[in-house]
Amino acid sequence: MFVFRAAVVGAGTMGGEIAQAIASADVPVVLRDVDSAPLEQGLATARRATERQLRGLVKRERMTEAQAATELEAIIGRIRATTGYEGFGDVDLAIEAVPERMDVKHEVFAELDAATPGHAILASNTSGLSISELAAGTTRPDRVVGMHFFLPASVMRLVEVVEGEATSEETVQAVVGFAQQLRKQPIRCLDQAGFVVNRILAAGLGELWRAQAEEGLSFEHVDETVREAKAAPMGPFELSDWIGLDTLLHLAEHLREFYGERFHISAELSERVAAGDLGRKSGRGFYEHGG
Ligand SMILES: NC(=O)c1ccc[n+]([C@@H]2O[C@H](COP(=O)([O-])OP(=O)(O)OC[C@H]3O[C@@H](n4cnc5c(N)ncnc54)[C@H](O)[C@@H]3O)[C@@H](O)[C@H]2O)c1
Repeated sequence: MFVFRAAVVGAGTMGGEIAQAIASADVPVVLRDVDSAPLEQGLATARRATERQLRGLVKRERMTEAQAATELEAIIGRIRATTGYEGFGDVDLAIEAVPERMDVKHEVFAELDAATPGHAILASNTSGLSISELAAGTTRPDRVVGMHFFLPASVMRLVEVVEGEATSEETVQAVVGFAQQLRKQPIRCLDQAGFVVNRILAAGLGELWRAQAEEGLSFEHVDETVREAKAAPMGPFELSDWIGLDTLLHLAEHLREFYGERFHISAELSERVAAGDLGRKSGRGFYEHGG
């Protein structure tokens, strides 16, 4: 199945970026949120991401400033914002990116089930909730799938395509094809806690936190060493501040519940979260973040 029109529900941290990735691949997309303020923020995120991409193309002399200005409006023009469900009647795929709570997602999936045509695929950008459980609340469990983008979705190439128990092969193939249409690299994963990437991330970060605490290393030193060795674009503690310490704690707890003690829960991480130091979003995590 080819995706001619798409929808994104939730215009927060991920939704605006996902809508941008879709619109910049020439596919019209309707972006829904409950209120006009997050919608405007989502559109502003999409605009900034597009400007960043086009600046790169102008710098590499792949297009002129004038062409970039026209292209910017064309891409943003393909995103239609709504607080209702107008425009959902002819989409082939809807991607849900609302907060990571099963009750909220269930409600949105029921609404999508009613608002979209019967053939449409309903995808969730969940980082770890069960796709099978989400699917069970719809009339089309075979057309429910995980489509897990990474932040920032306008840049990051990897997309996890998560197969629930009832997801059909046709649905998986359609979503793999759509991810490729967005110039992304899809990988297929089973519906298990952490899928693939977050399981690797949490295992790696857990070992680093454990070693740092046991050996009394400073986190600045660990970050500097990783950066200098060019082992990663940023150090693990800088990355943690970007992702959000509460998000990482929630992930570690979830994985420990599922896989047992091999997933480490850092005492320091728990203390920082309890103190409200959540990383960039709160202004302080392992580092101070001004402005
Ligand atoms: N933030 C990340 O780094 C990241 C990365 C990958 C996946 N995810 C996943 O993506 C999803 C969204 O995360 P986020 O960080 O963008 O959350 P967010 O809180 O930044 O945004 C969620 C948006 O959904 C809107 N919303 C709430 N209820 C709604 C409803 N009923 N209908 C329409 N919109 C509604 C909110 O107003 C908000 O704008 C989560 O499942 C999360 O686990 C997040």
